[in-house]
Amino acid sequence: MQEWAFHWQGKLALTSPQDTFATPCPPFSLTMFRSLLTTRLQSAFESAKIDLPGGFEPMVNLAADTRYGDYQTNAAMILAKQAKTNPRVLAQQIADHLQVSDLCEKISIDGPGFLNFTISRTALATKLNTIRTDDHLAVPPVSAPKTIIIDFSAPNIAKPMHVGHIRSTIIGDCLTRVAKFVGHRVITDNHIGDWGTQFGMILHGWKTQLDQTALARDPIAELVRTYKSVNAATQADPAVLDTCRRELVKLQQGDAENLSIWRKCVEMSLSQLQKIYARLDIHFDHFLGESHYNDQLAGIVSKLLSAGIARESEGAICIFFDEIPELADKPCIIRKTDGGYLYATTDLATIDHRIDEWKADEIWYVVGAPQSLHFQQLFAATAKRGQTARMVHIAFGSILGADGKMFKTRSGESVGLIEVLDEATERALTVVNEREGLSDEEKVTIADVIGIGAVKYAELSQHRMTDYKFSWDKMLSLQGNTAPYLINAYVRTRAIFRKLEGGVTLTEEIEITDPAERTLAIKLTQLAETLHDVLVDHRPNLLATYLYEVADAYHGFYEACPVLRAEGTMRNTRLVLCEATSRVLKTGLGLLGIKTTERM
Ligand code: ARG
Repeated sequence: MQEWAFHWQGKLALTSPQDTFATPCPPFSLTMFRSLLTTRLQSAFESAKIDLPGGFEPMVNLAADTRYGDYQTNAAMILAKQAKTNPRVLAQQIADHLQVSDLCEKISIDGPGFLNFTISRTALATKLNTIRTDDHLAVPPVSAPKTIIIDFSAPNIAKPMHVGHIRSTIIGDCLTRVAKFVGHRVITDNHIGDWGTQFGMILHGWKTQLDQTALARDPIAELVRTYKSVNAATQADPAVLDTCRRELVKLQQGDAENLSIWRKCVEMSLSQLQKIYARLDIHFDHFLGESHYNDQLAGIVSKLLSAGIARESEGAICIFFDEIPELADKPCIIRKTDGGYLYATTDLATIDHRIDEWKADEIWYVVGAPQSLHFQQLFAATAKRGQTARMVHIAFGSILGADGKMFKTRSGESVGLIEVLDEATERALTVVNEREGLSDEEKVTIADVIGIGAVKYAELSQHRMTDYKFSWDKMLSLQGNTAPYLINAYVRTRAIFRKLEGGVTLTEEIEITDPAERTLAIKLTQLAETLHDVLVDHRPNLLATYLYEVADAYHGFYEACPVLRAEGTMRNTRLVLCEATSRVLKTGLGLLGIKTTERM
């Protein structure tokens, strides 16, 4: 697997020597400070004639302690250790050769040999002006755009979409938005579970106990009800299980009646799912479910057999991974002894489609951690087939109830997504109802923005691998790291502009003087770096944390710096800071899939 997928400006120089500098640098104001500093460091090494160990790449990070600067590098410490010299002396030598006067107003050597960089007010001003005017808020496009297939949500037909699917849906959508924003070609594909053993029970249920009225009202719920009731019946009476198996075999053999029932189940479920996605403002380019690949499965298995990649074992066809220690005793079955194909077989066919038809460079699977063995096997099989697309399993943990156990309804059922969204908007409405000066219609719209935003943000503000507790009170609170807090911060930035009678024309005249202005300004310039980091580890929570810090810095600025009472350049500077904050919050929340409102 390639280690770095993202050839970001600057990161390019660090990670992909073969096409270093192959693409022209975007203008200064569109380049991240972090990558500019990295490039300058590399030039300083060269002009100071410092011996670099093979493959050495300097790291520039946000300063851990902003009293010393905005960015820092430990490069001198690493190099000094190698060369057995004094790190502070080496840091000084690097500093003497660094050409950063256009970027920094101060470089200092601190502690055991850190080099700290303080970005200059002029560089900040240039960047702020770009953020104020550029559609992409000074986020540079990736220099080598990739075709990325993002596989997320993927619920199973006739089973309710439960909270576990919330995570995949919300994380997948956010990653889609971020990857597109930085210039990748993204194709989203919802790999619906529309073909599987559950259909034996669903068909039997359809034929023996379907309630048409209930089906018309809520198809997914009615299909689930019949599925559950048949499932219970099979446990009491093995003969029912046999009947279900026969229904399944008939379906698989193309029986016209069963096929038509199956088609109806899929259509009805899909149309209900579409409504949920519309409510979430989440869109897919394709819904190529498992059934789409039925015709290809036999061919795949025989190809794998003749290529010697798969072989027969006790009547089943398997791919063995003897060369991979963790998988040595975990073969992947691609055809059962009864001739049936499996989830993995379908996934292999799906990969072929994505690579051959869509020319995928990368495929990202946003699927819960329990499926990690499946994806390890899948990726290993893909490597054996010589397919080079980069594959990533973007795993996540569980959602827990307030009691720390799996999130369930009071009756012990897993919670449906629709119920979650309904309750979120209802609860948000009680919060919004306390606000004055809003019409009832506005209140409903705002409650929708806040309620759905709160559910999404509760998810996205967590590290995806942690099991998080679902708490209504916490996610809907106007205080703390929540969607309502961030949306409110945005509303406050807009309120200032509404107070400006006759409007205002912002100019490029910016002079940053107050420390609170500076703290906010530097934060605002770091959206690009944040988005880059989100894509490196597929971690939307980095963007959530960043936006929270922006809102915090804005509140600090708002307390310390009067805006409307200021005059001249100071007033323009502060209004530009408000405008840039407003843009960063709106765009940033938008990348999380969260809408904003002008008032609340
Ligand atoms: N339908 C599956 C489930 O609910 C998820 C499918 C994920 N995508 C894939 N290509 N396997 O568990």
